[in-house]
Amino acid sequence: MTKRRIYRFDLTVGLLAGFLTLWCLLAPVAVESEEDVKKLNPYTGNEQAIQEGRKLFVTYGCSGCHGLGGGGGMGHPLTDDIWKHGSDDATLMSLIKGDLTGSTMPKFGQTLNEDQIWKLIAYVRSLYQGDPALIKW
Ligand code: HEC
Repeated sequence: MTKRRIYRFDLTVGLLAGFLTLWCLLAPVAVESEEDVKKLNPYTGNEQAIQEGRKLFVTYGCSGCHGLGGGGGMGHPLTDDIWKHGSDDATLMSLIKGDLTGSTMPKFGQTLNEDQIWKLIAYVRSLYQGDPALIKW
């Protein structure tokens, strides 16, 4: 009976230690992803929306500056992990709308609605070839 209890006690201590170690390992990651980076785009990874986004990308002249494959040209490349104003959904939404002060890109907030812009962003995400560890969307 007592042996059993001791065994149980060991198990509890072991589990606690395990959780503590896990927590120490995971806590810094959790803190980092909390720095108000929110995944807002309902279309990320949605193949049909990406195709629609691709059409919009051509129709509204995004490809004229960024290249159809997002490789850049007059506009910045969209395939790498360098994002001048930040890479999260909220930043790209306001950049494309034209709400970001200091951005040199034409404003699309009058021409496109948010739904269309999310599809465009979904297409932009599909072009990404940077480090997968840096994905915040
Ligand atoms: C007239 C050229 C031009 C057009 C058209 C254009 N862009 Fe841009 N785009 C730019 C420039 C220049 C920047 C860099 C903005 C800055 O530095 O503030 C940029 C930046 C961006 C970025 C951020 C890139 C980064 O690395 O930080 C995204 C995403 C983007 N554009 C998407 C689009 C989409 C989607 C469209 C079409 C709706 C579009 N752009 C149309 C010139 C253009």
